[in-house]
Amino acid sequence: MDQYAVVGNPIAHSKSPSIHAEFAQQTQQLLNYKTLLGDELQFEQQVVDFFAQGGKGLNVTVPFKERAYAMCDVLSQRAKQAGAVNTLLMSKNGDLFGDNTDGVGMVRDIVVNHRQSFAGKRVLILGAGGAVRGVLEPILDEKPVSVTIANRTVEKAQVLADHFACSASSFEALEGSFDIIINGTSASLSGHLPPLKEELLGEQTWCYDMMYGKHGTVFLQWAEQRGVKGADGLGMLVGQAAEAFYLWRQVRPETTALVDQLRAQMD
Ligand code: ATR
Repeated sequence: MDQYAVVGNPIAHSKSPSIHAEFAQQTQQLLNYKTLLGDELQFEQQVVDFFAQGGKGLNVTVPFKERAYAMCDVLSQRAKQAGAVNTLLMSKNGDLFGDNTDGVGMVRDIVVNHRQSFAGKRVLILGAGGAVRGVLEPILDEKPVSVTIANRTVEKAQVLADHFACSASSFEALEGSFDIIINGTSASLSGHLPPLKEELLGEQTWCYDMMYGKHGTVFLQWAEQRGVKGADGLGMLVGQAAEAFYLWRQVRPETTALVDQLRAQMD
């Protein structure tokens, strides 16, 4: 049976095996998908061994996405732009190919599942770390009228803004409201909120958090308390998996019902 895996550290609680098992069943593909605990010292060897043993595809998660990127013989355009790889496959001639499906998974979740359009919109992105870097090109492909990157460390926002031809700002210097606000800071993980002004939220604003939780996130709660709707990143998790599945199997699975199912299972 074709073998796939996700490598990361920690990895025990990864939802990827159950997501891919669901995709396989839905699309009637015969495959096995397991977790692989990444070793800080031997990550590269683990990847080499996985493919040498006949593995067909590997997802890469925290903290190895940059190391996976550095290992690849061939990179997709979006992986090059992201500077990180979350999906690997071995091509027929033995080249290790790396892609990054995080950004397109998020954009597809926002556009298809949540029916929000980026076209002509003023977009604000909070954070300037690896997660944000990975989503900028897919967002720009949707032709927003402007993209502003706000970060606690403004210099990091400026580096991304220069590279992707966007604007950079501190949280404090932001002015006016935005149509779509995406939280890509890891602050949500520890229940923190960047210092956001209420004036960022307008009548039409819609919010998205790349993080997720059973009851949303502090950022989404902040928006909701001010009458602004949004969605968390559970759909991004499923979306990036669907894009990886598509790359490996050339079949794109349905994601909406699975997101609902995963949310119901969350504790
Ligand atoms: P990731 O891979 O999740 O993007 P990262 O590269 O470490 O992780 O980036 C984390 C992001 O969250 C950064 O933008 C960070 O801001 P700094 O660049 O100023 O460090 C942001 N972040 C983390 N904790 C935060 C907090 N409590 N308030 C505001 N921003 C925070």
